[in-house]
Amino acid sequence: MSTMTIAIDGPAAAGKSTVAKKVAEKLSFIYVDTGAMYRALTWKALQEKISLEDESALEQLLKQSDLKLVQSDQGQRVMVNGRDVSDEIRTNEVTNQVSIVAKHKHVREEMVNRQQQLVKEQGVVMDGRDIGTHVLPNAEVKIFMIASVEERAERRYKENVEKGFSSDLEQLKEEIRKRDDLDSNRETSPLLKAEDAIELDTTSLSIDEVVDRIIDIVKKTEEQED
Ligand code: CDP
Ligand code: CDP
Repeated sequence: MSTMTIAIDGPAAAGKSTVAKKVAEKLSFIYVDTGAMYRALTWKALQEKISLEDESALEQLLKQSDLKLVQSDQGQRVMVNGRDVSDEIRTNEVTNQVSIVAKHKHVREEMVNRQQQLVKEQGVVMDGRDIGTHVLPNAEVKIFMIASVEERAERRYKENVEKGFSSDLEQLKEEIRKRDDLDSNRETSPLLKAEDAIELDTTSLSIDEVVDRIIDIVKKTEEQED
């Protein structure tokens, strides 16, 4: 069985998780959504009314939290201390504050440790912001996925409409810009293209087209290694 590691990084709503999940399915690899882990900690901190600026309290909270990504019939579920929080971690309240939690050095160190431990004998596709640069610096395939902010906001807008949520395109654009700005400019492991990553602009590509391109890159990499 292949033990290849695939790192997918990029800004908000570039299509990372949708594509990563499909690539993992096609290759029978495990998929690790690292953003869900930062979201889960943010959700827990809000529940416990812990200040999101309080680094040591957040680090403490993370160390005490049993945070799991579990495969189920309904896809990957996110569990915090045995509770399924998969829906709660996608609320605007969490989305718009997660980058504050994710900027703290000690929180990131603990997260990176946990993420590295998820790589075992099976191949893995992991998506996030610092996978190619910090979590899996030796990944065989590194993709940096981008798309214009207009396209990314449109995608989120469509997603909200499909779910029956009210949504404002201009506001979405603003929120995405703000989160990208925080993620790109933090001191510890900011969102950055790894030197050896392949940039993939998905602005005018469908999900399947992006998946196919990554599978091609994986095949070529395997051939080179043989
Ligand atoms: O899917 P979406 O682009 O909305 O975000 P996500 O992947 O769920 O990540 C949520 C937030 O977690 C990001 O905006 C980052 O602040 C943080 N994150 C991070 O700092 N490092 C990662 N490896 C993954 C996520
Ligand atoms: O994980 P990330 O935040 O990068 O993005 P995502 O949640 O996977 O994708 C955001 C939205 O864009 C989803 O509704 C996808 O179905 C959609 N999408 C798309 O329309 N075309 C693509 N090439 C990739 C994603």
